[in-house]
Amino acid sequence: MPCFFSFSLNQGRLITWGVERFFVFQSTSGSYHLISDKCPHRGGPLSRGSWDAENNRLRCPWHKTSLPESALFKKQIPVVIVGEHWTVCIEGDRKEYTIRVHDIPVVTME
Ligand code: FES
Repeated sequence: MPCFFSFSLNQGRLITWGVERFFVFQSTSGSYHLISDKCPHRGGPLSRGSWDAENNRLRCPWHKTSLPESALFKKQIPVVIVGEHWTVCIEGDRKEYTIRVHDIPVVTME
């Protein structure tokens, strides 16, 4: 059963729901996206990676796989954004877990 929730960028940019993780990613065009925080290689935390500005790629902190923006966009979760407020629907059945918004640094292009 999907889970709907809302949050504000002021609350934080890393979302956890049990073992699921998502982070707010700002693209090179300046648009914001909610992206799965699991690297396609072995599940490393992409939100803790580094941005390669020269090649416009995100480098995973675990084994250094680098992903272009297009690959990140394939991992995005649909959101409705109104001002600072994001409403998200995540597929899954994890009623036993609480969705948490964490105010910790995530990867940026700086
Ligand atoms: S888990 Fe990301 S490169 Fe291996």
